[in-house]
Amino acid sequence: MIPIIAPSLLAADFANLQRDIELINNSDADWFHLDIMDGQFVPNISFGVPVCQAIARHARKPLDVHLMIEHPELYLEIFKKCGANSISVHYEACPHLHSVVQQIKTLGCQAGVAINPHTPVSHLSDIIADLDLVCIMSVNPGFGGQKFIENSFDKVQELRKLITDKQSKALIEIDGGVNNRNAQPLITAGVDILVAGSFVFNSEDPLKTISDLKKVPA
Ligand code: DX5
Ligand code: ZN
Repeated sequence: MIPIIAPSLLAADFANLQRDIELINNSDADWFHLDIMDGQFVPNISFGVPVCQAIARHARKPLDVHLMIEHPELYLEIFKKCGANSISVHYEACPHLHSVVQQIKTLGCQAGVAINPHTPVSHLSDIIADLDLVCIMSVNPGFGGQKFIENSFDKVQELRKLITDKQSKALIEIDGGVNNRNAQPLITAGVDILVAGSFVFNSEDPLKTISDLKKVPA
C-alpha cells in the first residue's frame, strides 16, 4: 500500500507561502492539506477563504480542506469555489451530518468526516457507506506540532474493520503528530493518507522528508 501524502500548510511559512506551495508542487506529495479554524470549534484561528483562493492559484495538486469550524454547512460552496477537491467536516460540529455529507457530494467534492480523539469510531457506522474519507484526529484539533495520541492506532484498526464490514470505499486519513516513527505502523494498521505538518516543514530537507514518507513500507 503506497500512502497518499498530504502535507499540512498550517506549518508552512505564511510569509513565503508561494515558495512553500511550489515546494509541495515539486515534491512526491499527493495533496495539499488545508486546515481551516474558526476560533469557535477549536481554540485557534488559522486562515480562511482569501488565503485558500490564493493557494489554489498556485497549487498543482488536489486541495484537501479540513474544516474545523462550527456550521460548516454554511461554507461548503465557497470552499468548493476555492478549488477544494475533498472537504472534511467534524462529526462533533454537525448534528445533521448525513445532510452535510450529501451537500458536499452534490457540490462534486469528495466527502470526509473528521473525528476528535474522544469520539468513538463506532459513531460512524451509519454514515460510513456514504463517505469518501474519514480523518482520524491523532491530536486535539487546533494546533500543529502536538504529540501523537497512541490510542489512534486502535481507532485506525477499528475503522478499517468497519469499512470492510460496511463495504465502504472510504479512505482513512490520520492527522496530527505524524512522523517517520509512527508512519509505518500506521500504514500497517490501515491508514491510506498521512497528513504531516511540522514534521515536513520543520525538517532540514522537506523534499526528502516527503519522499521518505512516501516510501515507507507497509
Ligand atoms: C491540527 C490540524 C493538523 C495539523 C497537523 O488541528 O488538523 O492538520 O496541521 O500538524 P502536525 O503534523 O504538526 O501535527
Ligand atoms: Zn488537519
